[in-house]
Amino acid sequence: MSRNICKENRLDRKYLYIQTFGCQMNVNDSDKIVTLLRDEGYETTDDAECADLVLVNTCSIREKAAQKAYSQLGRFRMLKERNPELILAMGGCLAQQWGQKILARAPYLNVVFGTHNIHRLPEFIRMVEKNGSRVVETEFQTSVKSLGITAVPQNGAVSAYVTIMQGCNNFCAYCVVPHLRGREESRPADDVIPEVEKLADHGIREVTLLGQNVNAYGKTIAGSPGFAQLLRAIGRVKGIERIRFTTSHPKDLTEDLMRCFAEVEALCDHIHLPVQSGSDAILRRMNRGYTRDQYLEKIEGLRHFRPEISITSDVIVGFPGETEKDYQATLALMEAVKFDNLFSFKYSEREGTAAVGFEHQVPEKVKRERLQQLQALQEEHTLKRNRMLEGRVQDVLVEGKSRNSEHDITGRTRSNKIVNFRGGRELAGKTCSVLIKKACLHSLRGEMVEGTENPCSSK
Ligand code: 5AD
Ligand code: SF4
Repeated sequence: MSRNICKENRLDRKYLYIQTFGCQMNVNDSDKIVTLLRDEGYETTDDAECADLVLVNTCSIREKAAQKAYSQLGRFRMLKERNPELILAMGGCLAQQWGQKILARAPYLNVVFGTHNIHRLPEFIRMVEKNGSRVVETEFQTSVKSLGITAVPQNGAVSAYVTIMQGCNNFCAYCVVPHLRGREESRPADDVIPEVEKLADHGIREVTLLGQNVNAYGKTIAGSPGFAQLLRAIGRVKGIERIRFTTSHPKDLTEDLMRCFAEVEALCDHIHLPVQSGSDAILRRMNRGYTRDQYLEKIEGLRHFRPEISITSDVIVGFPGETEKDYQATLALMEAVKFDNLFSFKYSEREGTAAVGFEHQVPEKVKRERLQQLQALQEEHTLKRNRMLEGRVQDVLVEGKSRNSEHDITGRTRSNKIVNFRGGRELAGKTCSVLIKKACLHSLRGEMVEGTENPCSSK
């Protein structure tokens, strides 16, 4: 765990403060950065004021995410004014997008590194440390070296991310990811499986396989197993009790992959399957590669193989040309599926994407109203789905103490729902049998099952 080191004897240590915006991919990249910089003598701190190196790992997927990262830079500038020796670095999608331009906007930055250059960060930092030079590196590489970096989990952690592929070839009309993360690239199974085995040896019980479109896993390597085969192989790794993955593209969700939900016991009861819209006309304009009916068939297939599966999704409202009828089709699709949870966004135009310049932009006010109404409907569905668990016993992998009460601990069901219940912190990392007493919108309240000699185990 990182500590506040201002009050401690600093000795000869160097301290890194890292702030991460955006998706799990970025969180995993930040973990890799911490691992790389640890070899350069940097320890992490929670206190930016005391750091020698402040790094912001940015996201650019939607306008709001980009604004957040940009406003952080203002805060970092003040730190630099107080401590001119401080090294300021910016990475991630926004760094990739802005490249040289960001130096004009934020001349106090020392290092700007793009999404394909994480592995070179130690070299860049050394250059700054040595001669105060400024480095901007946003070249795309033919092979992304950071794919192979293993982020070492913290002591006592039971869950870990494993990147299995990166980049995206889909070019959805609204999405900046293929432009900023580059083309799809899979990591060889001969790297992935031994990493999972190593993690299991170190006490990791749950792995989340990461990629922009994990269903396309293996396509870039001749003779590679596909995603379903990879899942089956990881399902055989001793000690791995839970497997999750994100994100899946509906068009690449094969029946073979659906079948894994029936066959691979460790695979959790959850899939995140972004639909984006319930209207065929909008799906076509978005370049999603499936129709509403095809999406609904996939949902049916998933529920056939794993009836208790929890399904979450992403939706964009106000994509250019979205009429009231298109929007109503999205609400109707939500009614048909009853998602366990939904991440919903107002469309925001992203530089370089195909949708820039599309006709019939939807006014901001309409987008706002549609989003509010859609979110209210989703709340009803989330509550309904959560209530279905009331009175049922769930396996909960304990993550640690609850934020709300010092007597409670918190963990997740196999369907990825948060459960709070009475228990001691020593249960962290264990799987407990918990009776769900009450369902709320964002979490469930439970009680450890009485009468069992050992309601919690580390299988
Ligand atoms: N505007 C709004 N939402 C977007 N997303 C991606 N690009 C945009 C955009 N330009 C959403 C999609 C995606 C999620 C990660 O972010 O729903 O699935
Ligand atoms: Fe973006 Fe579409 Fe690729 Fe997802 S599949 S990262 S939404 S282009």
